[in-house]
Amino acid sequence: MALLEVSGLSTSFAFAHGAVKAVDGVSFTLEPGEILGIVGESGSGKSVTAFSLMNLLDPPGRVTGGSVRFKGQELLACSPRQWQALRGDRIAMVFQDPMMSLNPVMRVGDQLAETVLVHYRRTRAQAHAQAVDALARVGIPAPRERMRAYPHELSGGMRQRVAIANALINRPDLIIADEPTTALDVTIQAQILYEMKQLVRETGAAAIWISHDLAVVKDLVDRVCVMYAGRVVEQGPVAELISRPLHPYTRGLLDSLPTPAMRGATLRAIPGAAPALAALPPGCAFAPRCPRARPACAQIPVETTVRGRTLRCFYPLEAA
Ligand SMILES: Nc1ncnc2c1ncn2[C@@H]1O[C@H](COP(=O)(O)OP(=O)(O)O)[C@@H](O)[C@H]1O
Ligand SMILES: [Mg+2]
Repeated sequence: MALLEVSGLSTSFAFAHGAVKAVDGVSFTLEPGEILGIVGESGSGKSVTAFSLMNLLDPPGRVTGGSVRFKGQELLACSPRQWQALRGDRIAMVFQDPMMSLNPVMRVGDQLAETVLVHYRRTRAQAHAQAVDALARVGIPAPRERMRAYPHELSGGMRQRVAIANALINRPDLIIADEPTTALDVTIQAQILYEMKQLVRETGAAAIWISHDLAVVKDLVDRVCVMYAGRVVEQGPVAELISRPLHPYTRGLLDSLPTPAMRGATLRAIPGAAPALAALPPGCAFAPRCPRARPACAQIPVETTVRGRTLRCFYPLEAA
């Protein structure tokens, strides 16, 4: 059985003048130990997907359809009590801003210990020992001393490491990380990505890693979902997806990545801008920017499976 089975997940924001569909029929599965990347431009629905999965949406946001099965359990039907037991234990989330999961007025060691104690019967000393261990595992030097620090006494990179330690401390089965390294400088970002990969391998956890930058996650993830305007337009194993993109949007994303060979050359940006969700074209949302668009693209392409790849496109690039 898959660890996580998301099918047809849809989320809308309801406003007086109508609803905006931020996530529209998103489906994917995750096996234990697998790392899935969710990639797409800003505003494509990545965070709303993560928040929908974690039941962290605030009104007027609402999941309007679909199913999310975690080890067979329907998460969309969980009670607040069931969520309290799951979140921070079996499923953990890391946010772009580490302060979304850290308490500014509590010592780092105490908060990590607390994450253990709300879920497990341990002595304070045992929980503190676990916290020291978790800090060490995410590459925090002198973890014993760091236990007494408040979050504001740490650098951005160290703070994010603490948030990751807090997410990993109970050895969750699933970690959802929403652009956790986007605000950090590239060296720290690379370190954290590398360590994260080790940690996931070591603990056997599965992870969903969200990024607006395919270049950042390509060495971390096993598979990628490419999102555009709330829909997954292409999904597949990372190496194949990068070497042979089938969706014209994936192709455009890859063409806009810098490579060492083209130092100094101008990057080829995808012409046009991502559409506002309130004014989506009726069919394929990418059609207005797509070099391959034809009249059929005025319909929404259904998801099809082509050799281990899923695709929403009437005129994909040649697979050969
Ligand atoms: N709190 C909100 N209220 C209204 N609309 C929202 C809200 N959050 C997100 N949206 C809508 O959902 C879209 C996708 O947002 P998001 O998932 O945050 O994008 P990203 O891919 O950058 O993470 C936004 O462009 C916006 O239209
Ligand atoms: Mg986001």
